[in-house]
Amino acid sequence: MEKIWNYVVLSIFISLMSLIWHLRRKTNDSFGSKLPPGPTGWPVIGNVLDLGWLPHRGLAALKQKYGPVVWLNLGSVKTMVILSAGAAEELFKNHDLSFIDRNIIEAMRSHEFYKSSLGLVSYCSYWRTLRRICAAELFSKTKITDTMLIRRKCVDDMLLWIARDAKKCGSSGIEVTQFVFPALFNTIGNIILSKDLVDPHSRMASEFYSAMTEFLECLGRPNVSDLFPTLRWLDLQGIRRRTDHVLGKTLKITSGFVKDRVEQRHQNEERSVGIGKDFLDVLLDFRGTGKDEAAKLSESQISIFLVDLFIAAVDTTSTSVEWAMSELLNKPQVMIKIKAELGRVVGANRKLEESDIDNLHYLRATVEETLRLHPPLPLLVPRKAIRDTNLMNYTIPKDTNVFVNAWAIGRDEGSWEDALAFKPERFLDSSIRYKGQNFDFIPFGAGRRICPGLPLAQYMLPLFLGSLLHHFEWKRCENDSNKMWLDMTEKIGITLEKLQHLKAVPKESM
Ligand code: HEM
Repeated sequence: MEKIWNYVVLSIFISLMSLIWHLRRKTNDSFGSKLPPGPTGWPVIGNVLDLGWLPHRGLAALKQKYGPVVWLNLGSVKTMVILSAGAAEELFKNHDLSFIDRNIIEAMRSHEFYKSSLGLVSYCSYWRTLRRICAAELFSKTKITDTMLIRRKCVDDMLLWIARDAKKCGSSGIEVTQFVFPALFNTIGNIILSKDLVDPHSRMASEFYSAMTEFLECLGRPNVSDLFPTLRWLDLQGIRRRTDHVLGKTLKITSGFVKDRVEQRHQNEERSVGIGKDFLDVLLDFRGTGKDEAAKLSESQISIFLVDLFIAAVDTTSTSVEWAMSELLNKPQVMIKIKAELGRVVGANRKLEESDIDNLHYLRATVEETLRLHPPLPLLVPRKAIRDTNLMNYTIPKDTNVFVNAWAIGRDEGSWEDALAFKPERFLDSSIRYKGQNFDFIPFGAGRRICPGLPLAQYMLPLFLGSLLHHFEWKRCENDSNKMWLDMTEKIGITLEKLQHLKAVPKESM
């Protein structure tokens, strides 16, 4: 009898142990904490190879096997990936505050950039202050109307630069980005500093422009230190050293702008009482009111914030215009419809104005379709968990890095009919917009950290794209004329770009 009893106890013990083992396997981790499923990683490097060359694509492929929330170890960094609209909605609607911080990559630690950058600083009163200033002084309807002429002037400059090159480029075409990027750079330069900063026809690109483009390049380079933060100090690829140098140069120039302005304000009474004030004046005039708000912004905070705005605004918008133009050169029938709309609404004798945009439905739908298929930040700006959080019955530990794959969500066959086809028509009779309420379409993110520049981008994108199309007839360049499709291969840097920048032949049509 005792033998049988021992046997029963042993069997119960073994069954219990195997149940616990099974549960632990299923929950991937320690007792009580259940992580999302994900591929088994390699020793040391974890799941780095699952990312591939184009991480948004590598990560999207994991959904079929592991579902909409996937767990990875990238080197030693715990990472959660969100791959469906439903999971994104759960994250942004119910847990936005738990995932409100940013994951800071090594290059962004240079000169403590992340501590003063609106896009990177942790959720604190400084962040709230900058968001509030931006909402009121940069992106409100009134301010956007006030700066309309600046955008008009910068677009006119761009059209002139292109027209000048169009005469000599022949059938080899021009690289569209080489004109759009500097024009956007000057747009931001004029809105925030009242300065043109670059002219592609002057041999000397401005010092600030070159320093900024080098800084962008450093930010876009994959860095081993980001996978193994304990190895940061070794700076194995020298990226930190390079960034320190380039960002140092950039910040020296921006703090020069700030100092010059302080000097000017001392000498010029009018400016100091607010006549002809630009955004830099607003930042210098800022005086904190609340208990936890600093009395004023320091010169170094302002310098970093200015650089931050250029980074956030220029590359994203320029890349989107390039993708849109490439899609249109692949789809002549869409190009014909846009040109017809521009002809109807704007007409041949005048330029496209921002006030036309509300009536240019097909142009706006084309911009939306471009952002659906080619979101410039395919994984948004990565978030970080500020505490342990229960998300969809998984326990996500504090400090987890979070990628929301807006690229995969925008191409999800479950949400979009004929998801991979470029069809602006789908937005014409649809109520889906990119303002952070429809989680099937989140190129600007969602929740509290949604892109604050969205109201400006929503004018700049159709204005730049529409003006290029209204002013010129565009053809493929000689090398591409016999191809069925233009090459649309992607390259990931700080934004998702075309591997081969678009070259096309412009012919003035106005
Ligand atoms: C095609 C144009 C643009 C796209 C697709 C875009 C996209 C994004 C995305 C995805 C985020 C992260 C949102 C999140 O975490 O949920 C973001 C943040 C941000 N964007 Fe944009 N953006 C664009 C243009 C602009 C412009 C024109 C500006 C400013 C002039 C701007 C300023 C910012 C800033 C400052 C942040 C950081 C916000 C924060 O962390 O609180 N963006 N943007």
